[in-house]
Amino acid sequence: MNDSVKPVALSKLLNAKALGEKLALLTAYDASFARLLHQCGVDALLVGDSLGMVMQGHDSTIPVTLDDVIYHAKMVKRGAPLAWVIADLPFMTAMDVEQGLTSARRLLQEAQVQMVKVEGGLSVLPLVQALTEQGVPVCAHIGLLPQQALRAGYKMAGKTEVDAQRLLDEALALEKAGASLLVMECVVAEVAQRITSALSIPTIGIGSGAQTDGQVLVLHDILGLSSYAPSFAPKFLIEGRSLAEAVTAYVQAVKSGEFPSQVKG
Ligand code: KIV
Repeated sequence: MNDSVKPVALSKLLNAKALGEKLALLTAYDASFARLLHQCGVDALLVGDSLGMVMQGHDSTIPVTLDDVIYHAKMVKRGAPLAWVIADLPFMTAMDVEQGLTSARRLLQEAQVQMVKVEGGLSVLPLVQALTEQGVPVCAHIGLLPQQALRAGYKMAGKTEVDAQRLLDEALALEKAGASLLVMECVVAEVAQRITSALSIPTIGIGSGAQTDGQVLVLHDILGLSSYAPSFAPKFLIEGRSLAEAVTAYVQAVKSGEFPSQVKG
């Protein structure tokens, strides 16, 4: 239960790694759930472009626009004004550094989120550096990149030594460019563990094993509301549990290390 009256600061998320405390993140898209998630102790809320699937009924994140993310992020901020809120830069809203800065400015000024998430590896380094220089906290995102799925598909990343090395190089370069958090999506668990040990910033895994510094899942997957939920996302809203109990169970399972090692989808 989060009953603090102080806003969550980035330092709290960064210090968790040194303290060995796991971070529990979830996606949020509206005010009511944002309030509930923050109250239940979720460490940070992600207004992900997964909203394209769970809110809008599309089959990918590609149709999501910057205005869509801003619309949902505003609601999330209203519902949980003290939460640390991260918002995605959606498909083709950061095709060069200038456009990426302009898009991020809109997320911070119009929606008043605290951090932007950028999908990609070496190609986004100049943007990550430019955002950091402007004082914008950045969450990088490597591994399976849903915005690239039309070309690359939905596949586990890091299955070969060459790919594992590529991911490690990307992670180190993103940290050096100024990223404060790193989401790793569907990265082979041993590779995610190697990357987590090599970085000083917290890593947040999704489908990437138990050895990351935190976990993130799509809210609607753990509530059993998604038309398709990946096998790594168990339903926490089981019979007899309220919504608050389900979210609290997720937070506790992440913090204790029970999820994802013991709780399976
Ligand atoms: O869009 C999203 O919700 C995400 C998470 C799945 C990490 O990027």
